[in-house]
Formats: sequence, structure tokens, C-alpha cells
Amino acid sequence: MNTLITIREYETAARAVLDPVHFDYVSGGARDEVTLRENEAAYARLALLPRVLRGNPKRTLETRLLNSRASMPIILSPTAFHKLMTGDGELATARAAAAADTIMITGMAATVAVADVVAAARAAGGGDVWFQLYLQTRNDITAEIVSRATDAGVTAVVVTVDSPVLGAGDRNIRNGFTDLPPGLACENLRGLGGDPTDRVRSIELSAELSWEHLDRLRALTELPIVLKGTAHPDDARLGIEHGADAIMVSNHGGRQLDGIPATVDLLPDVVAAVDGRVPVLVDGGIRRGTDVAKALALGASAIGIGRPIMWGLAAAGEQGARNVLEILRSELDHTLALLGVESPAELGSDWVVTKP
Ligand code: FNR
Repeated sequence: MNTLITIREYETAARAVLDPVHFDYVSGGARDEVTLRENEAAYARLALLPRVLRGNPKRTLETRLLNSRASMPIILSPTAFHKLMTGDGELATARAAAAADTIMITGMAATVAVADVVAAARAAGGGDVWFQLYLQTRNDITAEIVSRATDAGVTAVVVTVDSPVLGAGDRNIRNGFTDLPPGLACENLRGLGGDPTDRVRSIELSAELSWEHLDRLRALTELPIVLKGTAHPDDARLGIEHGADAIMVSNHGGRQLDGIPATVDLLPDVVAAVDGRVPVLVDGGIRRGTDVAKALALGASAIGIGRPIMWGLAAAGEQGARNVLEILRSELDHTLALLGVESPAELGSDWVVTKP
């Protein structure tokens, strides 16, 4: 696997080994996949403007986010069902994130329970774990899930708000991929099912959810709350009013509303609306260190990657996910050197130009 040197090559390797139905599940997006493609294409439309002879021999990527720290501004966005990629599932991911000393956001739809994910990260020497939550209409169910994550030792709750209904992945519909294979389940909902024959409760997505549900969450946890999936600047503002401690600009990797703009194109207006009150994160379409640098220059405090980790896991398990993280780290470091900066904090919007 040492021969793989780019994220794109990990995608190709994943395609070669995965069941095509699972590869489509991971790599595909909603409907015509316009947004999926746009997320990447928008980065290609932005150019970087370096400065020269700035006498910066050393660089640091160290990043502080909320109550957590990471060795770099590259973290793992929450993705479902890691056991479809590799036998150890999220345990492998947690070890890879810990080895890279960065933050893993484990998902509500993980195939390993959050307590085991945090334990694996700790046993591998560190790396904070955050927990991604879909708010449930029943507050007692939300409370139970959050209390499990809190007891497990996560250091933030990431609330995904872009999913009032399930996204429509045409590839999944065509492939008939509707459920996990026997033996795999969303372990964070185990024991919450009402029916004794179906002990694992299904994740409920609901268009009934409103800011009131976020208020209820705010009342039941002291952990920092990251609002994931806001696109409109007004929603970022509202999120902060309702107690969010960070905003994550995300379109779910083009898996929810097809036709929503690329996240890097949404970022500047959200950053302006947030006006430095809380950190802004972004994910979607990041495949190169240069993409990371562009997002940081436009005001992101850190970026998340979704599919690249899945491709790494599929291609080579824990080691594959580690390699993906190290490729992006080394590309980002190299990019910062070429831009003439010492740290991401030095970057600003004047480092990026939009190509005509
Ligand atoms: C996701 N994503 C996601 N987000 C979330 O909040 N909860 C979830 O359960 C999932 N599940 C999920 C599964 C798979 C297979 C993918 C690819 C993505 C979205 C994810 O957090 C992130 O926003 C995107 O993946 C970022 O885009 P890239 O890096 O995949 O282009």
C-alpha cells in the first residue's frame, strides 16, 4: 500500500476491493450528484497566491478547537458504517486518528458503540473523539444517546441539521442498498428499541425538528455543541443564538440536497456572519493539501474529511486511514512552505484568488 501516494489513488484502490454496492454507497451522492462534483470543482476554481522570501524555516500545524487539540487542522468527519469498509470498523478509524493525533467525529450511525471507539482511541495513545448526533423528536431518546457519549468521554457533540429526511442516493436506490447486512447495526442505538425482537432502534430523521430541539439539547449537555450542515449565513447566526459553540459548513458531502452550492463557496458568507464569535469548520470535497489551505485561508479553523477515510479503510484498514491522514498532513505542510507561511493562522482571504 506504500505505493499509494494520493487520495485519488485510495479511491481507486477502494473501488477495486469493495463490493460495488458499498463503493457506490460511500462514493455516491444525491440525485444527479451535481453538488458532489461541485464540492471538488469549486476548489479547482480557486487559486493560491504565495508570498516569497519570508524567512519561515519551520511550520506548525497544531490546532486548538473548542476544548480539544489536534496535531493538524484536518479532522475526521462523521461517516456511517465503517464495518462495511474493514472488519474492525470504527475501532480501526479511532486507532488511525489517534496515531495521527487528530480528532475523530464518530457517528450516531457507527457500527461500533461510542464507548468502544473512545477506548480504542485512548489505548492507541490519544486523539479526542467527538460524537455526531441526529436530534430525535423524543427528548428522552436524545438524552440517553448523549449521556452514553458523555459517559464514554467524548469532548464535543456535533449535531447534524441538514437531514430532515434521508437523502436520495440514486445509486443506492438502483442497487437496492437499503439496510446493513445481517450482523451489523448502529450500535449507539442498541437497547433503545421498543420491540424486544428489534433491540437496535432505528435512527429517526424528522422534518418536525426545530430550533427548540436544539435548545433542549443545549439544556441537557455542557459539552460544546458543533452545528453541522448549515449553509445559509442566517442559520449560522441562529445557531450561535441557540447555543452552538462552533459551526460546521457542510452539505453532507453532496448526499442530501442536490444543487446546494459547494461548501467552499458557502464558507466566506458564513465566516462573515459568524464574525469571529465561534470557530467555523468546513467539509466536502477536500482531496489535497492545497484544498485544505484554501479552506483555511477563507476562514475555516479546521476541515473535515469523509470519503477519503472510508477509501483508506477499504484499501488497507487502519493503515490505509493512517496513510490518508499523513498524505494530507504532508501535502498541507508542503503547501504552507510554498505559500511562505509558518502556520495556518497566518493565512487570510488575500491568499486566495478566484480564477476568471
Ligand atoms: C457521511 N456523512 C455523514 N454525516 C453525518 O453527519 N452523519 C452521518 O451519519 C454521515 N454518514 C455518511 C456516510 C458516508 C458514507 C459519507 C461519505 C458521508 C457526511 C460526512 O460527515 C461529511 O459531511 C462528508 O463526507 C464530507 O464530504 P467528503 O469529504 O466525503 O467529500
